[in-house]
Amino acid sequence: MINSRQIRQLVARTYNAISQKYVSSYPFSQYTQYVDRFLSKLKPNSRILDLGCGPGIVAKYITERGHKIVGIDISPAMLKMASKAAPSAKFRLESMQDVSFPKASFDGAVAIFSLLHIPSYELQPIVNKVRSFIKKDGYFLIAVVRGKGEHISPDPLIKGRSMFWRGFIRYEINEALMKAGFKILVIETNYSKNTFGIERQLWILCQAI
Ligand SMILES: C[S@@+](CC[C@H](N)C(=O)[O-])C[C@H]1O[C@@H](n2cnc3c(N)ncnc32)[C@H](O)[C@@H]1O
Repeated sequence: MINSRQIRQLVARTYNAISQKYVSSYPFSQYTQYVDRFLSKLKPNSRILDLGCGPGIVAKYITERGHKIVGIDISPAMLKMASKAAPSAKFRLESMQDVSFPKASFDGAVAIFSLLHIPSYELQPIVNKVRSFIKKDGYFLIAVVRGKGEHISPDPLIKGRSMFWRGFIRYEINEALMKAGFKILVIETNYSKNTFGIERQLWILCQAI
């Protein structure tokens, strides 16, 4: 049985190897509407935490719209790209499991396709922590892929490397968010076409209560 630290090592190594390919394989243009809806709730110059920021595509989009970003990721190669993509943002090599910030120090947070690399037993503690970082009435935008179970399987972007993935069912993520002190505002399924076919995504916008 592989533990949390080993999962992070596996995930970081694979993302280091696919960082360049990742950007062209998963089209951001297909989900700007969800980021726009999140941004429409924010006051100007809000401070946003980007959990699993990857190559900084979302960070770039958000900083260009006048907000501040602090991005964290476990892949140094991804962070290098992120720093170039969003030069005004701050980035830290850190995991969602270990990261710490003062209470209520952010106006919002995003976790776009990053919680799907976290084993299910770590979801609730991480969501609780994110809630503590966000001010009351602040917003949290999440994107995951629908499905059941968790597994390690070959990464489709590179031969000979594996990735840890987990799928989400609605009620599970809803329950974790509500237990942590979030109110669900919108939860939607999006069918997104990428290099590998059609992906069933869940997009959730919630508010800290
Ligand atoms: C599918 S990519 C998404 C990147 C970015 N959010 C986007 O939408 O383009 C997932 C990212 O989450 C990061 N990640 C995975 N597990 C993580 C963890 N435990 N803590 C922080 N980042 C993590 C990966 O390194 C990778 O950059």
